[in-house]
Amino acid sequence: MERRGWWGCCWLGFVLAICCLSIARGGGEPKIKPLESSPHYNHTLATIIVEYASAVYVSDLMDLFTWTCKRCHGKTEGFEIIELIVDVQHCLQAFVGVAEDLNAIVIAFRGTHENSIENWIDDLYWKQLDLNYPGMPDAMVHHGFYFAYHNTTMRTGILNAVEKAKEFYGDISIIVTGHSMGGAMAAFCGLDLTVISGAHDVQVITFGQPRIGNAIFSTFYSQLVPNTIRVTNGHDIVPHFPPYYWYFPQKTYHHFPMEVWLYNVNLESLVYTVEKVCDKTGEDPSCSRSVKGNSIADHLVYFGVDLMGGDLVGSCRTVVEPHLMKYGSSDAEGNIVLSKAPVTSALTSRVTKRDRII
Ligand SMILES: *[C@@H]1O[C@H](CO)[C@@H](O)[C@H](O)[C@H]1NC(C)=O
Ligand SMILES: *[C@@H]1O[C@H](CO)[C@@H](O)[C@H](O)[C@H]1NC(C)=O
Repeated sequence: MERRGWWGCCWLGFVLAICCLSIARGGGEPKIKPLESSPHYNHTLATIIVEYASAVYVSDLMDLFTWTCKRCHGKTEGFEIIELIVDVQHCLQAFVGVAEDLNAIVIAFRGTHENSIENWIDDLYWKQLDLNYPGMPDAMVHHGFYFAYHNTTMRTGILNAVEKAKEFYGDISIIVTGHSMGGAMAAFCGLDLTVISGAHDVQVITFGQPRIGNAIFSTFYSQLVPNTIRVTNGHDIVPHFPPYYWYFPQKTYHHFPMEVWLYNVNLESLVYTVEKVCDKTGEDPSCSRSVKGNSIADHLVYFGVDLMGGDLVGSCRTVVEPHLMKYGSSDAEGNIVLSKAPVTSALTSRVTKRDRII
């Protein structure tokens, strides 16, 4: 009896010591299965794509559809929109088009907030992992982010436009982007195109996106869409939400790789921006997780490009000139889809270039 008591005590001590050790060493940190090879981070490409993520915020549909808006100049010059989708009911906007210089279909999602961005961020704190991602055992996501892409006019509009573009341009690559909530939708879209449409050359580049699922989801995601870059900026608050609890691996949200963290350093009174390519875990403690992350200002400008344009409240506003409706339709809820046939210019100029080489 006495002997047993001693053993029991010893055993308990042993278990406690192991527990303490594993907590101290961060052994409880949820792991995702690492990628075999890291996606290649291309700075030039990121600074082009951020301009698409910015343009999709434009509320004057005429300027956007004809690619004549102020934000449509610069590095995106010559882009051809094929489809512009506005879900008025859920305050969402996205476009699909072809960028000849990138030889790619570009899809961009607006990050939208029906209320102020402050309210939206407050709300992010409480988001539960409450939906099983279909076909992925134990992969959990937040239903709100999932439905914004899957259960609105967005998904059908985008899949149709991608189909149309592929018929015309062949199997060219697809780049999906978005800022903030638009980044979450871009990730679900990239995954959908890979899983459902069997697209094999899908690249996702998001800016200041929130977490969208658990560690198991992140593993599935990063194996299916390995070519993903998640850009975060300085103290941007949004990538810190919904929260990451390393000591609660079964219940916590977990970012997917690969983060590229932009932060400023002062050297001899000059400010330099460092672009840190983070590790393959998605939750690199030396990247944006190393700072408090309490800035809304850092959420609004990436690579010097203004994303929301100061239009923080009422970004659901849309300006539609009546004659624009000859390009599209609007349903009973007032949702709008504008379409254009792909133009031949992109294709012919490519053929001409090749002809010249031959
Ligand atoms: C980076 O992207 C740009 C724009 O698409 C492209 O011209 C360049 O070749 C890429 N660089 C590398 C190293 O892949
Ligand atoms: C999906 O969208 C429809 C129409 O907006 C809505 O009635 C339905 O409740 C949504 N489904 C879920 C599960 O939220």
